[in-house]
Amino acid sequence: MTGPGPILVYSKYADDLQRFRRILEPALAPAEIGYAGTPEQAEPHLASVEVLYGWGFSSAMLARMPKLRWVQKMGAGVEDVLEAPQFRTGVVLTRTDGRLIAPRMVEYVVAMILQRTLKLREVRKAQREGQWLPYFEVGSIRQLTIGVAGLGEIGNEIARTLRGLGADVVGWRRSNAPTDAVRQLFAGREALARFVAGCDVVVLVLPLTSQTRGILSGSILRAFRPGAHLINIGRGGVLDETALMEAIDAGIIAHTTLDVFATEPLPPAHPFWRHPGVTVTPHICGPLIPEDVAPHFLANYAAFAAGKPLRNVIELDRQY
Ligand SMILES: NC(=O)c1ccc[n+]([C@@H]2O[C@H](COP(=O)([O-])OP(=O)(O)OC[C@H]3O[C@@H](n4cnc5c(N)ncnc54)[C@H](OP(=O)(O)O)[C@@H]3O)[C@@H](O)[C@H]2O)c1
Repeated sequence: MTGPGPILVYSKYADDLQRFRRILEPALAPAEIGYAGTPEQAEPHLASVEVLYGWGFSSAMLARMPKLRWVQKMGAGVEDVLEAPQFRTGVVLTRTDGRLIAPRMVEYVVAMILQRTLKLREVRKAQREGQWLPYFEVGSIRQLTIGVAGLGEIGNEIARTLRGLGADVVGWRRSNAPTDAVRQLFAGREALARFVAGCDVVVLVLPLTSQTRGILSGSILRAFRPGAHLINIGRGGVLDETALMEAIDAGIIAHTTLDVFATEPLPPAHPFWRHPGVTVTPHICGPLIPEDVAPHFLANYAAFAAGKPLRNVIELDRQY
């Protein structure tokens, strides 16, 4: 394998490009590195680029890169580029190690669970009204059975932390690969209804694939334990949003916390915005911090240059 040619770093956030430049330039000198935050800025680089490190670019852009050999997604999800035919004809696709993004996602999940166990909304409302509430006993994570759906690099960290905090943690995944992060493991589609039925809180950390799209269907949502809390931090397309509203209105799911949506940004007229049973956050729970994720690219770049195996290579047939 010959040494890699020019690299294009692509991020829609201009501030991030400066931060990546500060990390990558000294580490990769004398490699030729271009930076782009828009298709127009990428244009002059397309003919020569061999390595693309980025996110927010279109699959169509790849078709205009005749020398492309390797794409490293900055993020953990790849569903937006997976269909590009280049990956079937020898271009390698890798993604960022989820464990580099996981710590903030763990904090998000813990915060959203505690918001309910500590009744923080009710207490803030009472404060706004100048009311001293009569004594009530706050809940605890230790009283909850929490199910983590998706026990990959991120889900496993979430399960492990929640278990460390004393929750009874169960997990669901495609394979039955064992993990000590959960007390009980459920595997495969036929176990999904049984898995959700036993949980007070369900955390979805699944990739979007042809297998997971819409997998949280109406019948699965109706199988939840009444009063459950559903948190989705994977991808919006894994659940049926209309069926979710129905499950909340029917009193089956008491609250849902959503960071990801079928359509992003969430359209202004979407009922999720105003429903008291829904907490909306704008896909912020797992930010790509350049200083956190760039070392993974540098390690993979060194492997690529040396002709060694890369980490986090996407398996095209399973789509993650
Ligand atoms: N909201 C955000 O800001 C944010 C940030 C980062 C990532 N994400 C999302 O989080 C996802 C997970 O990231 P990760 O790094 O943990 O991915 P990962 O390491 O690839 O793990 C994926 C997990 O999903 C399971 N899975 C895949 N297909 C399944 C199916 N059909 N049925 C049941 N389980 C299935 C896998 O099961 P096996 O273990 O059996 O293979 C694995 O446990 C990403 O794909 C991305 O979409 C969101």
